[in-house]
Amino acid sequence: MKALNTQLPLITTSKIRQFDAWCSRFEGVIKLTLGQPLFPTPSPIKAKAKEAIDRDITRYTPNVGAAETIDSVLQYCRERLNLHYGHDEILITVGSSEALTASLRSLLNAGDEVLIPTPAYPGYEPLINLYNASAVHVDTRSDRFELTPETLQKYITPRTKCLIITDPNNPTGILINRKNRDRLADFLAETDLYIIADEVYNRIIYTDDYRSFGTYEKLRKQLIIVNSFSKSHSMTGWRIGFLLAERNLTKELMKSHQYYVTSACSVTQYAIQAINDAQTERELAAMVRDYRACRDYACRCLNEYGFTTPQIPQGAFYLFVSVDKFGLDGDSFARRLVEEQGVAIIPGSAFSDSYKNYVRISYCVDFEILKKAMEKIKIMVTNLMTESINR
Ligand SMILES: Cc1ncc(COP(=O)(O)O)c(C=O)c1O
Repeated sequence: MKALNTQLPLITTSKIRQFDAWCSRFEGVIKLTLGQPLFPTPSPIKAKAKEAIDRDITRYTPNVGAAETIDSVLQYCRERLNLHYGHDEILITVGSSEALTASLRSLLNAGDEVLIPTPAYPGYEPLINLYNASAVHVDTRSDRFELTPETLQKYITPRTKCLIITDPNNPTGILINRKNRDRLADFLAETDLYIIADEVYNRIIYTDDYRSFGTYEKLRKQLIIVNSFSKSHSMTGWRIGFLLAERNLTKELMKSHQYYVTSACSVTQYAIQAINDAQTERELAAMVRDYRACRDYACRCLNEYGFTTPQIPQGAFYLFVSVDKFGLDGDSFARRLVEEQGVAIIPGSAFSDSYKNYVRISYCVDFEILKKAMEKIKIMVTNLMTESINR
């Protein structure tokens, strides 16, 4: 047989999924591994989905998305995110994953470089590799896991085509602060780079100091916003998201989107028309309240046990902490935590090789479960400290 795509050997199963699958072999393990919200999808969305099936809304929709869905999502963007985009500046996609795929496929030529601030969501690099381009890791450690123009500038070459910004970030949960965001916008507007702003966590935020990159008029021509309802509305399995970009760019992105998926699922698109319902917003607010309580509790515990992180995360539902102090790297720490205490977290190496001494803890779980997990983590670190004293 002839060779497959020669880039495929560069691509492996996500380390998050690999580790999660390994942990599943241990009975009764408490999982703080995946970014899978605990809550059910808001009731108005579920009701709309049932209605869609009963009304036989089961046909192809226009490639860009059903007109009523586009209206609803644009209204949601205006009212909740202060994003003002037109009807020809949006594509309804199969989660933000497909929005990312369509964007990267449309932007990249062989040899291009894509800047990825690290630690990073592991979904980006394999796509970049698949398109014969290369990912360039921008280490954000010295900027407290935020991105600054000064650091970014050091990584830009004539081959740089695009930058992916994840704000709030997975795995750190960190939100770029207002000053840095404004400075980044000023800096980027002076470059010819495309920017993909992955804002899937931007409704799970614990501060008022937030502004989407799409609110900077000066970035309009070079910006693609990808977003979804997976995390915010606990809809990971429904596979629905959207992409926003200036109309000429959207017209081009549509070419990839159309031939990848034709359109997003008609039933899901219909369901999402309940996105602006007051009850949907009430249920979302309740989720965020619970996440905040989990974040506060987990941060307090981890701080007390001796883990370190440069700042308290203001978004998403992850904590990314260094395990340096305990004499193990992140891989060994995570493995021993499963084997000895029955608690699963993700080694930092899943988010870039430079973060071997970190682990990610996902706190979108029931509060009582989180409490149990924290007690077990405390036992683990106490044991490790005793080991190191006796060594
Ligand atoms: C930062 C980030 N972007 C994109 C995705 C993909 O999400 P979806 O395709 O469900 O919208 C995830 C999922 O974990 C993520 O963490």
